[in-house]
Amino acid sequence: MSIALVIPDRKLDQLQQKLQQQLPGVAIEIWPDVQEPEAVTMAVLWRQPPGCLSQMSNLKALQSFGAGVDNILIDPTLPDLPLARIVDPMLTQSMLQYLQGVVQHYQLRLDEFSAQQRKQIWKARSPRKLQFICVLGLGELGQAVASHFAGLGFVVSGWSASQKTLAGVQCFAGETAFSDAVGDADLVICLLPLTALTENLLDQQRMALLKPGVILVNVARGAIVDDLALLQNLDSGHIAAACLDVFRTEPLPTEHPFWQHPAILLTPHISAVTNADTAVAQIAENYRRSLAGLPLLNLVCQQRGY
Ligand code: GLV
Repeated sequence: MSIALVIPDRKLDQLQQKLQQQLPGVAIEIWPDVQEPEAVTMAVLWRQPPGCLSQMSNLKALQSFGAGVDNILIDPTLPDLPLARIVDPMLTQSMLQYLQGVVQHYQLRLDEFSAQQRKQIWKARSPRKLQFICVLGLGELGQAVASHFAGLGFVVSGWSASQKTLAGVQCFAGETAFSDAVGDADLVICLLPLTALTENLLDQQRMALLKPGVILVNVARGAIVDDLALLQNLDSGHIAAACLDVFRTEPLPTEHPFWQHPAILLTPHISAVTNADTAVAQIAENYRRSLAGLPLLNLVCQQRGY
């Protein structure tokens, strides 16, 4: 019995070593150099190439190496097996820190001052009025983010597919409540999972429902935002600025207009990175559970997509 790490384009020696320490005696193989595919009972996946699991005929469980699973479910050859994701307090902490920094960046008008600096303009301005935050997506991370900003005294609304209840957060659910959820927000944070229902959710029509001068932050998945609609709304000033950590194609292609847009702050998908130590503990526990026939921790509903 063995585990296959199917995470292309990454150095996996450390992950392999750490997992080996947790599971002595279990072979941890790095795809594509899997010596005995039929011995693999669990595959740890991130952007796996379709078809790569076809030789692993005794797989019992699938484990995402991240919080999201969209890049795993996209594979039409994925076997219908229990799939778990990483839920990690350190990942949540990293997301909170990132968003805290982003909110302060815009409150202090650092975006405008850095534009002024490039033109050698000396012009003082008072901080931006930024009181109302809307969080789209109230899953594990969305709830933590909404509660965090509510705790800091921001007025916070949240929007999700199913109704949620969160202390200090006005929660909205479903399509018809979208405009109420976002209508007053000075800053909108997208933390939705990418599914067939959320792809291009932030299109021209929904962007028109945002308050003029809003700031949009996307830390979920690039494909939830219609790139062209975002550029048009930034150019018209309806959306004042956007902070983007995720993109349809990553790395963002060099010719993409987001790189040069003056109203876009762009980071290379670093808002919440999987911590190898906590991930390893969850992967090892799920491996033991799969062998014992117990339900995996942090199971994902494949049909729903999260
Ligand atoms: C990162 O984007 C993740 O889903 O873990």
